[in-house]
Amino acid sequence: MSKLEIIVASTRPGRVGPSVAEWIEKEAAEHGGFTETEVVDLAEVNLPFMNEPHHPRLGRYTHQHTLDWSAKISEADAFVFVMPEYNFGYNAELKNAIDYLHNEWQYKPVGMVSYGGVSAGTRAAQMIKQVVTTLKMTPVFEAVSIPFVNLHRRGQAAGAQRHHARRRRRHARRTGAHDRGTAPAAGVGRFVTPGQVPTGEDGHAVCARFHTAIEMIGARWTGAILRALFSGRLRYTQIRGAIPGISDTMLAQRLRGLQRDGLVERHVLSTTPVEVEYRLTRKGRELEPVLDALAVWSHTWIPVPGAREP
Ligand SMILES: Cc1cc2nc3c(=O)[nH]c(=O)nc-3n(C[C@H](O)[C@H](O)[C@H](O)COP(=O)(O)O)c2cc1C
Repeated sequence: MSKLEIIVASTRPGRVGPSVAEWIEKEAAEHGGFTETEVVDLAEVNLPFMNEPHHPRLGRYTHQHTLDWSAKISEADAFVFVMPEYNFGYNAELKNAIDYLHNEWQYKPVGMVSYGGVSAGTRAAQMIKQVVTTLKMTPVFEAVSIPFVNLHRRGQAAGAQRHHARRRRRHARRTGAHDRGTAPAAGVGRFVTPGQVPTGEDGHAVCARFHTAIEMIGARWTGAILRALFSGRLRYTQIRGAIPGISDTMLAQRLRGLQRDGLVERHVLSTTPVEVEYRLTRKGRELEPVLDALAVWSHTWIPVPGAREP
């Protein structure tokens, strides 16, 4: 018997963590190296900030939540930490959960599944190694690092709902308890792994929606306007100042197009003289990771215009 526990580190509403863990659990089950796998969600474990009076090494726990957490971690032979990168590090809830215990972690391997923006959470994964080795855990060198994790989100709440429904069914089977159907965390998207990118309704690789989306952001200056607006709401003159070389006519035309496509909203401010402010809609804001990915790609593959090849 060997058990792998996949720990979901993030706890905030709207997090992507459970969806990533669901994918990892599926991969682990298919791999078949462990007789049992379980997703352990720190949001459900719900530990307060460390409040034990004694050093965890002594195992003299005074709170039920610590005893429960200790029992859960003791059951495992190995772990996967599914963790986001927050401000170039791993998240505080994971550190808190680690600090509660000591012997329970020892001599067990831990694999890192990290995610974030361009860094793919690799800074978080590196940073945690110092902590886990202090507890005599063995971090596995091989890692899963997911860049631009939010590009993988599809179908609000679908993944989380399936994950929670499965957990409830498993819990009900184990305890004989009635499945009360607790609500999933709000706003969690499904994690779409490479190869699962949605195709057209007719199954073709490129669908009409994709063409429309590419054309929407592909017009000259549109990307620059959107990138300027990712920093927040801006007045017309501020946008023009942020984009050297754009003419008034062109900026006005592109802003009208972006409003028509529902990416930008125009607000008239009650100032004297009257000023006009532009803001992204949610549809527009959700293009940010898409354009970030394109910026990274362009820096790899597109030479600076006018520059000579080395
Ligand atoms: C407080 C905070 C700080 C973040 N800092 C970083 C960062 O330093 N590097 C990065 O790549 N992404 C960063 N992000 C983006 C997150 O990696 C991304 O939002 C991810 O979805 C967070 O994981 P979660 O949804 O499971 O909470 C940050 C997000 C939050 C909420």
